[in-house]
Amino acid sequence: MSDVLNLARPELRRLKPYVPGEYEPDTLRLNANESPWRAPGDSTARGLNRYPPPRPEVLTELLGKYYRVPKTELLVTRGSSEAIDILIRGFCAAGKDSILICPPTFDMYRVYAEIQGAGIIRVPLRRSADVRDDFGLDTDAVLRGLDGGAKIAFICTPNNPTGSSVPESSIERICKESRGRAVIVIDEAYTEFSDRPNLRPLQERFDHVVLLRTLSKFVSLAGVRCGTIVAAQSVIEFLSQVLPPYTFPTPSIELVTQALGADSLAVAEERIQILRSERARLIAALSALPKVEKVWPSDANFILIQARNGHELVRRARDAGILIRVFDNDPSLANCVRITVGRPEDNDRLLAALTS
Ligand SMILES: Cc1ncc(COP(=O)(O)O)c(C=O)c1O
Repeated sequence: MSDVLNLARPELRRLKPYVPGEYEPDTLRLNANESPWRAPGDSTARGLNRYPPPRPEVLTELLGKYYRVPKTELLVTRGSSEAIDILIRGFCAAGKDSILICPPTFDMYRVYAEIQGAGIIRVPLRRSADVRDDFGLDTDAVLRGLDGGAKIAFICTPNNPTGSSVPESSIERICKESRGRAVIVIDEAYTEFSDRPNLRPLQERFDHVVLLRTLSKFVSLAGVRCGTIVAAQSVIEFLSQVLPPYTFPTPSIELVTQALGADSLAVAEERIQILRSERARLIAALSALPKVEKVWPSDANFILIQARNGHELVRRARDAGILIRVFDNDPSLANCVRITVGRPEDNDRLLAALTS
């Protein structure tokens, strides 16, 4: 194995961590300058007058079981957005290092890189006239791009907003050939909606490969902000220094604990199946609309389409009280509209609005 931490910012590897005050249940806690009283209406088990634990250990344990990852190889973050932020801050020195992205893709990689003052190397997805082959990852170009000195490459699969997945063989080649050169971050935010297996077995083989997971999509918890970084223990220990203590709020800890119960996960699983069959129904119905020129296949809980006039389509939906999103800030997505798959009745409403 290479030592991936050689890629990290050396000054952060030497960072002296903050030492949080102790917390022990059933003790009088006069060590953290908290209020001794609960706020009116506070129904949490821990009490909102108390700081949350420095790290949500209960969730680390539960998510470890759920993702089948030892808890030493996992870090809980406020959504995978925060994971992207701390990875970039941990590995990219401002004004010196870069990330590599494959647009069109999730725009927050760019945003966090710019906030950190990191450069951005762009390796666009390959285009093809055949929608089944369109927006593929250009593996050779990614590997060449890494020669430009990127510290982190973000690979999003299934990709937002195209819905396309990257074949495991391409990712494996990138992982093999990037050892010692870059951290490969595989963003699996939508993996639960895809037929492809998740990439934990691949990640386990490489200490420079990191997976991002989120509870925002498949368990209906975008509002609690819970993401997970899965990585080698050394990477998790390093990132734990970059992530400040007490970031994960008490209500979110308690709500996620409930949501990871067997009943709630069974409901999430049923809903995934509904969304997948609704996705197929929507793709077929949208493809038949004269206003729609292209519909890309999707492994996620959204569909990308190209309309004759994207703004006109968005306006029609809006007139019916429905929001869909046009992506025209990227020239490769002119007139492209991303539609999140809703409940069957929501999708009926959308189709009626677009057909009228
Ligand atoms: C590809 C991808 N990664 C990460 C995120 C961030 O998810 P969250 O911060 O809600 O976990 C999103 C959100 O839409 C996304 O599309």
